[in-house]
Amino acid sequence: MVFEGPLRADADSILARYPEDHRRSAVMPLLYLAQSVEGSVTREALREIGALLQITTAEVEAVASFYTMYRLRPTGTHVISVCTNLACKLRGAEAVFEAAHEATGVAHGAELSDDGLFTVHEEECLGVCDFAPAVQINFCSHDTVSPERMRELVAGLRAGEVPSPARGPAFDSFKAASRALAGLEEVPSA
Ligand code: FES
Repeated sequence: MVFEGPLRADADSILARYPEDHRRSAVMPLLYLAQSVEGSVTREALREIGALLQITTAEVEAVASFYTMYRLRPTGTHVISVCTNLACKLRGAEAVFEAAHEATGVAHGAELSDDGLFTVHEEECLGVCDFAPAVQINFCSHDTVSPERMRELVAGLRAGEVPSPARGPAFDSFKAASRALAGLEEVPSA
């Protein structure tokens, strides 16, 4: 059971934000809440969210699989998303993506590093093309990232540091960022 005890209370507080006849609108924050527990959204969580919202598991999964913010497979403590879309590609994103794999030890096609610390994800446009190559770490933006900077960021994460993002708050893990995105944590100031 995913949503039990304090987590059920959190789910109820999310549901209470929506009118009774629009409860299904809570699907995205509930997915973030589920993700904040294990770092990914499990089959069990998909089923339970469907039951809470009185929609099918397939409907919940359709949302979860459409958006890349949700992880449906085993996930590291930190998720590094490297944009390889056009503007970033033209400014060297492929070398940054390669550096992320090398530094984290995540093999191409694998979901996470052997130590469980990292997931490396190839992302589409992150909406900050003027700062290409763009990277997100635990949803926090890092601008004009070179391969060398990518290696520094990974070394910092290994040392337990929380890298300062280009803008917005910083989160120390993918789970913490997911909980904030569920709207349940006070977001730290930038
Ligand atoms: S193409 Fe990379 S942020 Fe837009």
